[in-house]
Amino acid sequence: MDNVFISQLLGTPPRQSRFTEILDGLVRRTFPWIRIDSVWRSKWRMGNIELRTHLFHILTQLITFEVPGDIVEIGCNSGESSVILQKIIQDMDPSRQLHVYDSFQGVPKPSHHDKDVYAIGDMSASEEQFRKNFESVGLQLPIIHAGWFEETLTSSQLPEKIAFGFIDCDLYDASLLALNKIYPLLSLNAICFFGAYSDPESNAAITTKSCFKSPGIKRACDEFFRDKPEKISLLLTGTHTSGYFRKSI
Ligand SMILES: C[S@@+](CC[C@H](N)C(=O)[O-])C[C@H]1O[C@@H](n2cnc3c(N)ncnc32)[C@H](O)[C@@H]1O
Repeated sequence: MDNVFISQLLGTPPRQSRFTEILDGLVRRTFPWIRIDSVWRSKWRMGNIELRTHLFHILTQLITFEVPGDIVEIGCNSGESSVILQKIIQDMDPSRQLHVYDSFQGVPKPSHHDKDVYAIGDMSASEEQFRKNFESVGLQLPIIHAGWFEETLTSSQLPEKIAFGFIDCDLYDASLLALNKIYPLLSLNAICFFGAYSDPESNAAITTKSCFKSPGIKRACDEFFRDKPEKISLLLTGTHTSGYFRKSI
């Protein structure tokens, strides 16, 4: 399977110019409740080509090597990555299900671990938009779990086994909750991937946008993996870094 469908379905998102990045940063610092970057973002605005390529390689590999289980995306927003995951599932192994989870109201109140990077309601996309986006690319809808993770990441709404967990919810509380719920369900050799994972000590990425730093994610992982055998590895993702671990027990 080639991965050209990614740009065929979603286009290639333009990189933000240095000028608009600086303007965004200035406006955010002066008027934190104003988000001017949405003016020049396209309909598919969350990921970049590197992130999409990571998703492609990880999921095709897990399916090829027959790691058992379904696929979950914790924080699906308008479905930009969900479309890629669903396309791969439909083409390679339609017996697997994609489950997506989101409040469809953006992020809740951040905790002190998140260091003011986000405000309530940031990154909101409606369930209607999610459905429309799937319709526009002609793919079957995944199983949608709408609501706060505290209510939806339950044994009745999670699959029994997970081959690929994509945790992409930006905040400390949500990431820690997702890890606690997903980890026991991951099959041996399953992969769990974090869309944005920043480790300031790695000096690995040119992280220009504060939202990609998402400090709460690393804090949640540091806490969670203190007594686990796995550790997070970084992946370069254009403007930032992502992280992943492979379940080893
Ligand atoms: C970065 S976006 C996800 C992007 C998506 N994975 C993609 O690649 O297009 C983060 C999403 O997490 C959701 N979210 C964050 N915390 C949440 C919580 N506690 N409960 C439900 N949804 C939450 C937000 O609504 C937002 O849509």
